[in-house]
Amino acid sequence: MSDYLNFLRSRTPFLWLNPHATGKCTGDFTLADMLDAEARLARCAPLLEQLFDEAAEANGIIESRLIEVPNLARRLLPDGGTLLLKADHDLPVAGSIKARGGIYEVLAFAEKLAMENGLLTSGDNYRKLAEPAARALFRQYTLAVASTGNLGLSIGTMAAALGFRARVHMSCDAKTWKKDLLRSRGVEVVEHEGDWTEAIRVGRAETLATPNAHFIDDENSRELFLGYSVAAFRTAAQLRLSGRTPDAEHPLFVYLPCGVGGAPGGITFGLKTLFGHKAVRCFFAEPTDAPCMTLGLVTGKFNEISVYDIGLTNRTSADGLAVSRPSRLVCREMDTLLDGCFTVPDEVLVPFQQTVLSLENLKIEHSSAATFPGPEMVLESSFCADHGIDPANVRHLLWTTGGRYLPTF
Ligand SMILES: Cc1ncc(COP(=O)(O)O)c(C=O)c1O
Repeated sequence: MSDYLNFLRSRTPFLWLNPHATGKCTGDFTLADMLDAEARLARCAPLLEQLFDEAAEANGIIESRLIEVPNLARRLLPDGGTLLLKADHDLPVAGSIKARGGIYEVLAFAEKLAMENGLLTSGDNYRKLAEPAARALFRQYTLAVASTGNLGLSIGTMAAALGFRARVHMSCDAKTWKKDLLRSRGVEVVEHEGDWTEAIRVGRAETLATPNAHFIDDENSRELFLGYSVAAFRTAAQLRLSGRTPDAEHPLFVYLPCGVGGAPGGITFGLKTLFGHKAVRCFFAEPTDAPCMTLGLVTGKFNEISVYDIGLTNRTSADGLAVSRPSRLVCREMDTLLDGCFTVPDEVLVPFQQTVLSLENLKIEHSSAATFPGPEMVLESSFCADHGIDPANVRHLLWTTGGRYLPTF
């Protein structure tokens, strides 16, 4: 462990292979929970179709494409191999991976509230939630969240569209354009001078003291985690359609950027639940200055250690990943599920961002580019040999996570 701590302290990029990755789950989340979340999103599809033009194009199902990126493949896998990209950077409505969990939790809250108040029953068309009676109810409630930017965009947009009072506590890392976009969508933005851990502490306390208010808690929320996990059903269908269903002999290696851990954790849980531990191997990418999940898992201290404790700054241009302490809930799940983590220096993010723009015409945020060194790092490690995997059979999937609304750069 001391070698890894030295890499972390000295901001040296490295790959950590998880020695506890047995594929066992805690049992806190199940396939039944994922199916329940998927069914809720299906019930809400007519509502989303009505509320957002962008969602109407896909019948109210907010989903991204799974695409081949042959030009990028030649750059990142010079010895050949298949590279796929799951384009969450282009998710409609909120423009990032955080749309999945954020929109889901707002819908779950709205559904519960409407049912408790006699405005909705299970067989109803969910467009009822956009009618004046539901809006009058929602107007009495505040939905609040703390965010480095993208979760705020997702929750703020969804909550405001249903008529809730939406209040987003933004950390110092949040980009100005994200705050401006939220304000233009009718959301109250509270700017904090501290980092995200500070913003969530203040936001949580303030919401608790406010009547009729619900705090969507990125560190502890089951709903967010399950909303993210639904991506696995959609990705499984896309893989099946392209004839690439993974198995232990032809595994899919998935590379996901990680902040507090909810989005990549939920997706990892979902994919492993559907395909099995050996068919899908997941690796998280973090900035060398903000490797909170790597630190939590390597030390086994989960959220009881912060990147400041080992002298790091938590300063990174990958704003969505600027998190100093990981989610305990996610650490517990990932401790035995995640195959590894790697760290990347900020200096590579802009070049990779430009590479994918010029080679594949895809516009992504810095955070999204953090995974790009992943395939090479994993292939150069002992991972394939350790698990009896033929590297030629591996398909690699980069999960891009934000960028749709990024102003021109
Ligand atoms: C673009 C982007 N990628 C990845 C992440 C990481 O998600 P999480 O914080 O749930 O680990 C975030 C978080 O905000 C993000 O905005």
